[in-house]
Amino acid sequence: TELLTLAERMPKAELHLHLEGTLEPEQMFQIAKRNNILLKYHSIEELQAAYQFSNLQDFLDLYYQGMSVLLKEEDFYDLTMAYLEKVHAQNVVHVELFFDPQGHLARGIAFDIQINGITKALTEAEQKWGMTYQLIMSFLRHLSEESAFETLDLAKPFLDKITGVGLDSSELNHPPEKFSRVFQSCKDLGLKITVHAGEEGPPDYVWQALDILNVDRIDHGNRALEDTQLTSEILRRRLTLTVCPLSNLKLCVVDSMASHPIQKMLQLNLNATVNSDDPAYFGGYMNENYRALIQESNLTEDELYRLAKNSFAGAWLSTAQKNHYL
Ligand code: ADE
Ligand code: ZN
Repeated sequence: TELLTLAERMPKAELHLHLEGTLEPEQMFQIAKRNNILLKYHSIEELQAAYQFSNLQDFLDLYYQGMSVLLKEEDFYDLTMAYLEKVHAQNVVHVELFFDPQGHLARGIAFDIQINGITKALTEAEQKWGMTYQLIMSFLRHLSEESAFETLDLAKPFLDKITGVGLDSSELNHPPEKFSRVFQSCKDLGLKITVHAGEEGPPDYVWQALDILNVDRIDHGNRALEDTQLTSEILRRRLTLTVCPLSNLKLCVVDSMASHPIQKMLQLNLNATVNSDDPAYFGGYMNENYRALIQESNLTEDELYRLAKNSFAGAWLSTAQKNHYL
């Protein structure tokens, strides 16, 4: 329909995307083969059959297995470029992508190998298509504060390539306050902060993200809607929520796409945006997320525009760059 065409054609920014979550089964097998890595699954079909998740942890277990094929700079480059090509074809003109350095450092992959491969692809996409980007280093919250500090130390020579820091992985029992000192150090270094909060975790974790970490953005934020004082505070601070519809469906954060809270968020005037999170695992990239919402809800043309506008408003771009897109 017309709304679908509009969603596909309108320029968009993606603000919540885990690079390691773009590893498609085909590419996983291809990279595993050239790196002589034996995967636990014998075929693409067998792997895909495992993509059935009851919660976040089910997914994370596969996500960490999948990323273990990434060893060399060219692996990070190829992965990043494959993602950028896909979303360029979907009229995504600006991307802010997360990478999980600790998921690779643990396997002996040096920080420079990771970041050099990723930024090579990003700069090429900028030169070829004028696509703009920011890179966000994310800490794994199931690991210790000490490990996060060690990772921050490793990142210090590369801070010119990193705009902000994130917090992802298993949310329950790993509240934002666990990393209050790490994020204070990040803030002192001039880094922006966004954390996953209220995906599975309670509203209190979102409060902690606001009041203890003083975040610049919130990833997901679904459960913030359970607390009206919290939504008022998010609104007062004009914080962007990076919402991920297909991810929420696949990880059972919502019961159905029809009951997804994004329209409610817009009705409350919250700066909600549409994002794909881990598109290779959740059944689609940006346009597939828009399509699922359009097909299962009564999203209006005005709301579609607002979602795209919010994506640029919430981007970590200069005012001049934002105005160019808005
Ligand atoms: N890592 C990759 N995707 C994630 C998500 N949706 N939540 C938490 N950690 C993640
Ligand atoms: Zn995420």
